[in-house]
Amino acid sequence: MSAPVPSRGPVVLVGCGRLGSAILEGWLLTDSVAAADLIILSPSEKPAAEVARGQGARINPPLEALTEAEVIVLAVKPAMWREVMTPLLPFLADRAVILSVMAGVTAPTLAEGIGGWPIVRVMPTTGVSRGRGVASIWSADDRARTIGRGLFESMAETVVLTDEALMDAATAVAGSGAAYFYAFTEALARAGEASGLDAATADVLARATLRSAADSMGDDGLEALIGRIASPGGSTRAGLDAMAKDGRLTAMLNETVAAAVKRNREMG
Ligand SMILES: NC(=O)c1ccc[n+]([C@@H]2O[C@H](COP(=O)([O-])OP(=O)(O)OC[C@H]3O[C@@H](n4cnc5c(N)ncnc54)[C@H](OP(=O)(O)O)[C@@H]3O)[C@@H](O)[C@H]2O)c1
Repeated sequence: MSAPVPSRGPVVLVGCGRLGSAILEGWLLTDSVAAADLIILSPSEKPAAEVARGQGARINPPLEALTEAEVIVLAVKPAMWREVMTPLLPFLADRAVILSVMAGVTAPTLAEGIGGWPIVRVMPTTGVSRGRGVASIWSADDRARTIGRGLFESMAETVVLTDEALMDAATAVAGSGAAYFYAFTEALARAGEASGLDAATADVLARATLRSAADSMGDDGLEALIGRIASPGGSTRAGLDAMAKDGRLTAMLNETVAAAVKRNREMG
């Protein structure tokens, strides 16, 4: 557990849906934001917000409370941020930072809607709820970037992007990546079935292998990890060679990530 981010004013969480709740749970789990420093704005009652309330967070206080806020974390659907933010703007201090976790809403679009407040974009995964997420961070403003890192690094592996346009690629790798691993695991199970295993056994083996591979990964290089399993001339090496034949593994993943990047751009 890391020390709570020093309190320089409340952190306001706007939206406590799937991602907002995950972020809230991560903050409380890692003790990186003290519940007493939290203001949560949510139209409906949410279990994660109720837990935070029990530890001292304020839920839907009068908007005057926002004047003390250092950072406003915007976790609503991209289609509704303007109508959500407009009534809040008159209460924000000049020093407030807007942290957006919304996919596809660019900083220029946000700035055009909210005015001159510094913006930091963060693209986290819901794994932050267990303190084991991934978060890509971008900001043109040093203080906003530091605040963004401070709020996420105790519950996520964070990377700072140098260019906002890279958010689409980062989202295609990290945001979508878990689904690719699940799809691969499903295909591995079906391949096991094609080689004679019954479906249920193949499912157990493929899923357990994904878990075990993730657990054993640590920080070692991927080539070294592969080398530990695949000895020259052995069966794993034969499988890897078949998978990479004619560059098809690389080509397939290039196509996969490029398609997701394209879709991210279209939605933005
Ligand atoms: N889910 C993910 O894995 C993920 C990952 C990366 C980025 N994101 C981004 O995170 C954002 C939220 O996604 P989500 O999946 O968490 O969506 P979600 O579950 O629909 O959550 C959105 C929340 O916004 C709340 N809301 C609506 N109007 C509000 C208002 N005036 N004030 C405060 N809150 C308000 C809704 O409250 P009610 O429930 O009461 O209607 C809802 O709980 C999106 O922009 C998305 O692009 C999500």
